[in-house]
Amino acid sequence: MGGGFHILSKQFGNISEMSSAALTVSLSTAQASCVTSFVDFLNAAVTPFHAVATIAGMLRQAGYEQLAEPLGWSSAALAPGQKAFVIRNDSSIVAFAVGGKYTTGNGFKIIGAHTDSPNLQLKPKSHSVRGKYMGVGVQLYGGGLWHTWFDRDLTVAGRLVLHRAGATHVSSTLVNLKRPILRIPTLAIHLASTDERDKFAPNKETHIAPIIATQLAAQLNGKEQPQNGQNSTLLHLLADAAGVTTEEISDFDLSVIDTQPSCVGGAYGEFVFSPRLDNLISCFAAVTALINETSTLNDDSKIRMVGLFDHEEVGSSSPHGAAGTLIPDIVDRFHTGEASSLRPVATANSFFLSVDGGHAVHPNYPEKHEAEHRPMLHYGPVIKYNANVRYATNGMSGAIVKALAVRSGVPIQQFCVKNDAGCGSTIGPILSTLTGIVSADIGNPMLSMHSIREMCGTIDVCHLVQLLRTFWTDYDLVAQSDR
Ligand code: CO
Repeated sequence: MGGGFHILSKQFGNISEMSSAALTVSLSTAQASCVTSFVDFLNAAVTPFHAVATIAGMLRQAGYEQLAEPLGWSSAALAPGQKAFVIRNDSSIVAFAVGGKYTTGNGFKIIGAHTDSPNLQLKPKSHSVRGKYMGVGVQLYGGGLWHTWFDRDLTVAGRLVLHRAGATHVSSTLVNLKRPILRIPTLAIHLASTDERDKFAPNKETHIAPIIATQLAAQLNGKEQPQNGQNSTLLHLLADAAGVTTEEISDFDLSVIDTQPSCVGGAYGEFVFSPRLDNLISCFAAVTALINETSTLNDDSKIRMVGLFDHEEVGSSSPHGAAGTLIPDIVDRFHTGEASSLRPVATANSFFLSVDGGHAVHPNYPEKHEAEHRPMLHYGPVIKYNANVRYATNGMSGAIVKALAVRSGVPIQQFCVKNDAGCGSTIGPILSTLTGIVSADIGNPMLSMHSIREMCGTIDVCHLVQLLRTFWTDYDLVAQSDR
């Protein structure tokens, strides 16, 4: 990230009905450092695997201990004051910190988000010849704005699964080739029909197909023929990056990613331009809130938990998706033996905050938002509502979030889609159904969601971290009701 911050110092005054927070885009030194850390995080977390590895590093540095899957835990790991995390499939992670005053049945304060974003993933056999070009076969993952992937300088990153020479077991390692080696070129305007130009509706199999080299260059370098079904050029680059032989790469979970780094932008440094803001912004805010809010942990009577899941963009149904057993397994582990009868009590005492990207009103398409529900960058996180439970918020959980916003000094907004528009969903309804825990859906407003290059507000990152910290510290105060 370069250029630093050039932020307005003007305060806009109070605009939120529900919060006394002053609107501003100016950053304190601490906030500017938070935004810098966020941009660094975005540049490191290029795939869910890299996101989890980066988060695990942040947690270790903060004194969190990695545990094997829940059944292997000793009871010492569950004692008040303990801080630990669990990883499943290298792409989902759950961290928790047990409050100093926790006793069984007190329940959990859970923040959830997702580590994945729409992208192109390599086909199991990546070799592909297109005319006199060497291509790389890809599958489309999730609902991307695929036209934004054209004419970008792309590369490959993800997880390689190795079967090393002489080893009986398989192992894995992460790679990020970083160098721009792939490109999906658009068709020149002169070659497109008027209809093709106007619609720009690329065929997902034949047009969204990255090229990696000319056939001639591959030929001259002895890489024209496939090796184990793989594009030989790519396979050698991957092997070199991982420090293994091409034969040792047994399988992989690889994505095509943009090489352009995330950055702070806008005339006043008020924007972040980046891929994967949906939903790395929430992953970053949740982990930062967990790690930074340490001085109050001793007095906490609940377990603070952050669950960051892969596969949200494709429905969450996998062992490590939010519809899987990761959170229930951990909740179970805290309620074994005699404590099992207190599990329903813990459920009733718990709260789940599902945090995912929200839609800011688009300046050029304002009619896509209903007039009274138009989230704006810098005006705080959004509480998301949907009568058909595509979001998990209800009146009770929404009121709790509003109360937390007031206590944190963070402005807050509300959103629901127009009745004649489709509505996205989140892990909120999925995980609250699975666990029986009352939930709310919130998230930061952004533009260009699911584009290869999204944008959000810089101060909004700090707002979200502050609101989530207040969830840890003040939830028990605002939730004291006879519900
Ligand atoms: Co999302």
